[in-house]
Amino acid sequence: MNFTDLIIKKRDKNKLKKEEIEFFIKGSSEGTIPDYQIAAMLMAIYLNGLDDEETALLTAAMTSSGEILDLSAIPGIKVDKHSTGGVADTTTLILAPLTASLGLPVVKMCGRGLGHTGGTLDKLESIPGVQVELTPTRAVEQVKSCGAVIMGQTSDLAPADKVLYALRDVTGTVESIPLIAASIMSKKLAAGADAIVLDVKWGSGAFMKTPEEAERLTKTMIAAGKKAGRKTAAFITDMNQPLGNNIGNSLEVIEAAGILKWHIDNDLKTVALALGSKMLVLGGIAENTAKGLDMLNENIENGKGLKKFEEIIKAQGGNPAALYDYNLLGKASFSLEVKAAAGGFVYEINTYEIGKASAALGAGRLSKDDKIDLNAGIIMKKRLGDSVKPGETIAEVFAKSKEKCIEGANIIQGAVCIKKKIPEKKPLIFKELD
Ligand code: URA
Repeated sequence: MNFTDLIIKKRDKNKLKKEEIEFFIKGSSEGTIPDYQIAAMLMAIYLNGLDDEETALLTAAMTSSGEILDLSAIPGIKVDKHSTGGVADTTTLILAPLTASLGLPVVKMCGRGLGHTGGTLDKLESIPGVQVELTPTRAVEQVKSCGAVIMGQTSDLAPADKVLYALRDVTGTVESIPLIAASIMSKKLAAGADAIVLDVKWGSGAFMKTPEEAERLTKTMIAAGKKAGRKTAAFITDMNQPLGNNIGNSLEVIEAAGILKWHIDNDLKTVALALGSKMLVLGGIAENTAKGLDMLNENIENGKGLKKFEEIIKAQGGNPAALYDYNLLGKASFSLEVKAAAGGFVYEINTYEIGKASAALGAGRLSKDDKIDLNAGIIMKKRLGDSVKPGETIAEVFAKSKEKCIEGANIIQGAVCIKKKIPEKKPLIFKELD
């Protein structure tokens, strides 16, 4: 097969066959197709798309480019969850322990933060001692003994995605629905779960800027999941403001612990419990999502979710006392309050910019090998539609230096738009699809 012919085929808007897609992925992961030709193919796909069948074939080829985790030693239906990424999106740290406390076996493979989005692994590592780089054997053992594991992806999982993603990142081809769908679903399918719950974000802090685009991505991912024989359900949720109020690694652990401990009602909890209740349904533990929600709320009330979080931390070598004594998580040396320049209502929050402010404070990475400050971040004091007096605090920032605090605070000032009118309220959960 000549790869130039395949690039031309896609450039001319023709459909690729199974063996052609497999040739593309094999050549990409084995290094026999040069980067410039892979990049050309990615651009052809970005411009001309792939249909559902091609996307499912691409997903399958990427899934089998590496190891597929065998979770058969763990009894029960294994349900995974994936978010397409956002700001203050800490749902995993709430729903993994909660669903596990109800008997759902949870093998949650997560990533690190990059760009404006945070990553669960970094958040978990802000708890002293926690290990996230675990072998598949150790992960299976931990799920058998404590019911859940939250860990990094093994390097052998969908290696083709690493090659394609690195090239997409530098060739302007990240925001392609079939490429995003295949990238996410190949990793989820290789992670071995029987069912998958997706949280597809739309809005200023998400890859998908409109609910319609998010719906197209969702349907593509569901089709790829179903084609691979896995039950796949999804929620399309709002990312036009940070989901929680705390942004940054130890700050997000504090917020998640607070939700497991206290009777807080906020958007973060609502989304975490919606996803968790769907996981319980797909896992055969709850009859329906209403029942699932009751079960999750009960395990917040009776403390079983928090206890399970303690067990997971302990099993991964961490100190669970940090869930109670936040001093054990460490503290940023400097903080600064961000004050409203004018009075009115919070009308718009550029969530992408808030994520960038968090990275500038030290909480995120601008490139893959950057070292992050686990105690840096932001506490948002206002949400969309809240009234604000001139000079009132809209956020507080935390960092290692005064200069970083000032840089982060300036970005937040520019990202929060205050007007004299109240913004139209957008639904937190735009749609549920399965
Ligand atoms: N997350 C992924 O894993 N891949 C994408 O392409 C986009 C978001």
